Amino acid sequence: MSQWKSICRVDDIPVLGSRRVARPDGCDVAVFRNAEDKVFALLDRCPHKGGPLSQGIVFGESVACPLHNWTIGLHDGCAKAPDEGCTPRFSVNVENGVVYLNVDELNSVALNESATAA
Ligand code: FES
Repeated sequence: MSQWKSICRVDDIPVLGSRRVARPDGCDVAVFRNAEDKVFALLDRCPHKGGPLSQGIVFGESVACPLHNWTIGLHDGCAKAPDEGCTPRFSVNVENGVVYLNVDELNSVALNESATAA
């Protein structure tokens, strides 16, 4: 059975913004909230050159990377055409206003990716 770790309340994430979740063994995870209070989680690393997506602007169900303005889908972590590439996504569970991330994913997904932006 998967285990879920409580991260914060939905209200703790700025609307159209994000919150970073540090991982001891890997790149941070960015947890986003959109205008409809939907919550998404991606590796905090743009598939282009590693920009910090957590510092981007959320619109609709996408985030604009702060470095070169690529649009990354919050559902799948993939860049919108004509740009290409995907960043890993993480499962999110929201219950009673609390955001949970999957412990197995936090401990395994994309641990080798470095956060360095170019
Ligand atoms: S690093 Fe994100 S658009 Fe270039």
